[in-house]
Amino acid sequence: MFPSVLPVPRNPEPQAVPVLRWGIIGPGWIAAHFAKALKENSAQKLVAVAGRNAGKTRAFADKWAIPHTFSSADEMLAMNALDVVYIATPHNHHFPDGLQALRAGKHVLIEKPLALNAQEGAELQAEAQRRGVLCMEAMWCDFTPKYDVLRQLLADGALGDLHTLIADHGEFFTPDHRIFNADLAGGPMLDLGSYLLAFSVMVGGGAPAHITACGQPAEGGVNGQASMLLQHPSGMHSVLHTTLFSNTPGRAVIAGREASIVLDGQFYAPGGFVLTSSQGNKSLRWEEPQNRYAQLSYEAEHFAWCVGQGLQTSPVRSLQTSLQTLSTMDEVRRQLGIVFNEER
Ligand SMILES: NC(=O)c1ccc[n+]([C@@H]2O[C@H](COP(=O)([O-])OP(=O)(O)OC[C@H]3O[C@@H](n4cnc5c(N)ncnc54)[C@H](OP(=O)(O)O)[C@@H]3O)[C@@H](O)[C@H]2O)c1
Repeated sequence: MFPSVLPVPRNPEPQAVPVLRWGIIGPGWIAAHFAKALKENSAQKLVAVAGRNAGKTRAFADKWAIPHTFSSADEMLAMNALDVVYIATPHNHHFPDGLQALRAGKHVLIEKPLALNAQEGAELQAEAQRRGVLCMEAMWCDFTPKYDVLRQLLADGALGDLHTLIADHGEFFTPDHRIFNADLAGGPMLDLGSYLLAFSVMVGGGAPAHITACGQPAEGGVNGQASMLLQHPSGMHSVLHTTLFSNTPGRAVIAGREASIVLDGQFYAPGGFVLTSSQGNKSLRWEEPQNRYAQLSYEAEHFAWCVGQGLQTSPVRSLQTSLQTLSTMDEVRRQLGIVFNEER
């Protein structure tokens, strides 16, 4: 049934969110946005940072008033007064860095993608279970108010039977960006593509039953663009495209028999969407500021809430969901012939 108003985003009660002591591995570009979001929009405490470049790590710590700096993850992980480690290194470091932090008995929030492939992801899951700690992929959009409203609309059946998801995510990168670097598991798939595939797994209710993909290589030995057609067990189709050659609108459409949602680009970032009935006579619009990086605080607050609840997997982004996304990416890569160095 078409709703009279949009659902209200749900947030944990502030008193149910413990203040955790956070350490960061990899004081790079996204780590700076994360630190800012934590400082300005949450009560979480940044207590330590570890980076391979001492000067850069010190400058990062000074900027964000972080009391402890380390030139290796080992030293930081020996700290007792540290609850959780946020891993913001390049994709191919997520697995070794994550495993090391889990083995040190810390809760771990790992930048997306969780790992290079489903096998690495499953090893992280097994280690987290052994240690009795929380491991979560920092698929930050999943924890934002907009995604919570979308999940509620889907769960309420506001769209009727789902038939089609169409989404794209293309961005222009200069050749010096790490996305062109084969030694850092470059290509759009693990970067931009992870938003598309995670969205498709969320809307489709799990991993697709059938995948067809085609790709085009870029210079530097990485994939440059990929187009993917996914068929879900329900019969829903996802039509997805990602590229690192060009900027594309980044919009998405979730089409059901009763109603459709059109999300403004970039679909996964804070921004508007419109829900319209199939007859075209009713519509509701979601509006919000496009304060993309400020919304990184939601993943940190959700993570702290999970720790407070004693959970070892997030009810919003379970490791199972992350593994389904990784196994879908594995199959796309298999069809495109993309093999990362660590897999050779
Ligand atoms: N959530 C989001 O919106 C978002 C956005 C962008 C990226 N990400 C994810 O965050 C991760 C990091 O991306 P980024 O753009 O922040 O990268 P970045 O700016 O290059 O930062 C990477 C950090 O990892 C360190 N590092 C450790 N080993 C390295 C190695 N072998 N080669 C290069 N750097 C190494 C870098 O060290 P130095 O400090 O010495 O350079 C740097 O501190 C990626 O997995 C990406 O998918 C998430």
